[in-house]
Amino acid sequence: MQITIVGTGFVGVVTAAVFAKFGNTVWGLNTDKEKTSILNQGKIPFYEPNLEELVNENLKAKRLKFTTNYKQAIPNAEIIFICVGTPSAPNGQADLKYLYAVAESIAPLIKNGTIIVIKSTVPPSTNTKIEQIIKKKTKTKFFTAAIPEFLKEGSAVSDAMSPERVIIGTLNKAVADKLLDLHKPLGGKKITMNPESAQMTKYAANAYLAARIGFINEIANLCEKTGADIEEVIVGLGADKRIGSHYWYPGPGYGGSCYPKDVKELSALASGLGEGDGLFEKIDRLNETRIPRLVEKYKKFSGGFKGKKIAILGLSFKPNTDDLREAPSTKFIPPLLKLGATITAYDPRAMKAAKQRFGTSISYAKDAYDAVTGADVLLLLIEWDEFKQLNLKRVRQVMRGNVFIDTRNLYDPGKVKRHEFRYIGIGR
Ligand SMILES: NC(=O)c1ccc[n+]([C@@H]2O[C@H](COP(=O)([O-])OP(=O)(O)OC[C@H]3O[C@@H](n4cnc5c(N)ncnc54)[C@H](O)[C@@H]3O)[C@@H](O)[C@H]2O)c1
Repeated sequence: MQITIVGTGFVGVVTAAVFAKFGNTVWGLNTDKEKTSILNQGKIPFYEPNLEELVNENLKAKRLKFTTNYKQAIPNAEIIFICVGTPSAPNGQADLKYLYAVAESIAPLIKNGTIIVIKSTVPPSTNTKIEQIIKKKTKTKFFTAAIPEFLKEGSAVSDAMSPERVIIGTLNKAVADKLLDLHKPLGGKKITMNPESAQMTKYAANAYLAARIGFINEIANLCEKTGADIEEVIVGLGADKRIGSHYWYPGPGYGGSCYPKDVKELSALASGLGEGDGLFEKIDRLNETRIPRLVEKYKKFSGGFKGKKIAILGLSFKPNTDDLREAPSTKFIPPLLKLGATITAYDPRAMKAAKQRFGTSISYAKDAYDAVTGADVLLLLIEWDEFKQLNLKRVRQVMRGNVFIDTRNLYDPGKVKRHEFRYIGIGR
C-alpha cells in the first residue's frame, strides 16, 4: 500500500519503518527540515534500540523516504497516519494545533477515498473536528479513523511489530477491512470499535497505569512509617490474580512524554464535561508533588544539601531511551541546585540531551564510577542495567560521603549497609 506518516517524531518514525518493512511504500513527512535530513541519511534524531537498523534497511530498499514536502507525500497516499504531538495546553486540555495544521495542509491534496488515521493521542470527538476542517477545503471523498498508539519508548520497535492489541476506531466496514489488512502482518489482537471508544481506551490505559504508580507510592509512604517493606507487600499483592504482580513501580513517580500529559488531558476532559469528581486530578497532583516531597525527605536524610556533591545516575525518564521529557532528573536537579548542591551526572544514553537541557549548571561524568568519585550523596534515579550491580566496595572507596539514595529499590538495603553506606530506598 502507499502510506504517508505525517509527523515523523518518535511514534511516526517507528510506524513508518514498520509499515515499510512489510513491503508498503512509505513517505515520512515532517515540517522540520533538520530532522528530515537526518532521517534521510539513515540516522535517528533520538535513541531507540533497533530503530536505526530498521530505518536503514527500508531506506536502502527504497520503500521508505522522508520529506518536508506535502505535495510530494500526500497526493498518492491511500492511507495517511497523523502522528504529530498533542501536548497539554496550560489548562490541561490536549492542544490540537499541530493536528489542525496537518488537516489544513493535507485537505487540498488528498485523493478520492483516502483514509486519514489519527494515531496521535487525542480526546474522543477529534475525528469530527478534523473532518470539518478538511471538508471546508475540499469536495474530495475521504474517510477518517482512529488507531491510537500503545508502543513504549525503549522497546518501541518490538512493541510496534508485535503489539498486544491494535485498536481500529471506525464504523465503516470497508475502512476497517483495509486497515485490518494493513495491520495483518503485525501480531496481537485486532479490535474494531468506534473512533471515540478507541481514543478513550488510550487515555484510560495510560491513566490506569499512572494510577498504579501513584497508588503504590502512597502505600510505600505508609510502609516507611509502619515498618512494612513495599517490596514484600508487592509480592503479596501480586499473588492475587485480580491484581497481578506486574507493573508495580514504587519510585519517584511517572514521567515521559505520555502519562503526565494524558492524565492532565483526561482530567481536563472530565471537568469540561462536568464529570470530574477529581480522580484524575488527584493522580496528577500526587505525581506533581512526589519529587518535591522526596527532595525534602532526602535533604533531611543527608543533613542538608548545601555544599554537598551529589552524583546522579540516570537522566532519561526510563531505561533504554535518551528522552528527557518529564524525566525525574528534570525535577530533581533544579531544587537540588537551589539548595546549594553541586551535581555530577551520568546516563548511558542521554548525555547529549542532558547537556542541551542542563548546560553548565551541572557536570557530566564518563561513567557511574566517575560520577560518584568525590560525591557525598549517590542519587540513583533510573534503573539502567549497568546500575544494577555496581561494585559497592569501589563506589564506597571513591565517594567522599556515604549517603546512598536508591529511588528504584535496585539494591538490598542490608547488603548496601554492610559497605557502610547510609541507605534510603522507597517504602522500606
Ligand atoms: N512517545 C511515545 O512513547 C508515545 C506513545 C504512544 C502515543 N504517543 C502519542 O503520539 C503522538 C506523537 O508523539 P511523539 O512522542 O511521537 O511526538 P514527537 O514530538 O516526538 O513528534 C511529533 C513530530 O511531528 C512533527 N510535526 C509537527 N507539526 C507538523 C506538521 N504540521 N506537519 C508535519 N509534521 C509535524 C514535529 O516536527 C515532530 O517531529 C502524541 O499524541 C503522543 O501522545 C506517543
